[in-house]
Amino acid sequence: MNEASPINPMVAASGRQVAAAHARPASDVPATGPVRTGGAAVGSAIGTPVLEVVHLEKVYGARGNVTRALEDVSFTVSRGEFVGIMGASGSGKSTLLNCVSTIDSATSGSVVVNGADVTRMKAAKLAKFRREQLGFIFQDSNLLDTLTARENIALPLTIARVPAREVSVRVEDVAMRLNISAVLDKYPYQMSGGQQQRVAAARALVTDPALIMADEPTGALDSKNARLLLESFETMNRQYQATVLMVTHDSFAASYTNRVLFIRDGKIFTELRRGDSPRRAFFDRIMEVVAMMGGEGSDAL
Ligand SMILES: Nc1ncnc2c1ncn2[C@@H]1O[C@H](COP(=O)(O)OP(=O)(O)OP(=O)(O)O)[C@@H](O)[C@H]1O
Ligand SMILES: [Mg+2]
Repeated sequence: MNEASPINPMVAASGRQVAAAHARPASDVPATGPVRTGGAAVGSAIGTPVLEVVHLEKVYGARGNVTRALEDVSFTVSRGEFVGIMGASGSGKSTLLNCVSTIDSATSGSVVVNGADVTRMKAAKLAKFRREQLGFIFQDSNLLDTLTARENIALPLTIARVPAREVSVRVEDVAMRLNISAVLDKYPYQMSGGQQQRVAAARALVTDPALIMADEPTGALDSKNARLLLESFETMNRQYQATVLMVTHDSFAASYTNRVLFIRDGKIFTELRRGDSPRRAFFDRIMEVVAMMGGEGSDAL
């Protein structure tokens, strides 16, 4: 499954309308890594949407005390995209990610992952689907304290009954790519926060999920470790064609993505596509939108 992926070809297409990315010609696609073993995303055609969010609404509370956290949110993410979600505190970013990741249930609308509508899935099927198709990275790494990094990363494969020899190969491979080979036999308390987050990223990636979701993954990291984690995300995206959805309030973190969706008051306000522009130029454009939305810098969003 190391075929080319549609990494945002469009330049500066901002606006309310959110469209799926189009595939680049093969010659224009960055070099890809080795063939992955196994995995749920195998068989997804190039340019096929991995995620389709259609008229998604989420209302919390009841009579007199209602919060419309999401209102008519629609967008599509193609395989191999790295998409950022930005917005002020309380704008609905986590709600959106939680509805997509099935942690929370939508009030109406649909969330289709790899062709399956998760809003209509029964609990038993959902658990399997989540395990096989989705990967999560939280603000705190959520590693199991009593397991080494190697065991933490291997856990989802062990649960899926992948043979031990294959587990070992896949864990070593992903660890090498995310620069954590040296900490594989350490326990979480023996690692830095940044290393823990990269181990969490490896754990999310190792099952080759259709979609990896991260909610403020750099939120608890200093700038050096944030940069290292974001570079790991780039590696996941470029070398594994992982499709990543990352919530962040930080323009610097968002500048590592291929596209940013800006959310305001539960609605998509606009989107920015990186196209071929360098990260620094994309950062400047993100900051312009942040300013336009009333923010005063990375902390305002
Ligand atoms: N379980 C809940 N019950 C009631 N209201 C909720 C619940 N979860 C979120 N909300 C409300 O929904 C809105 C969106 O919240 P959400 O957590 O998605 O914001 P966010 O964009 O992730 O903010 P932050 O940047 O602070 O994490 C807010 O007004 C919040 O108060
Ligand atoms: Mg949040």
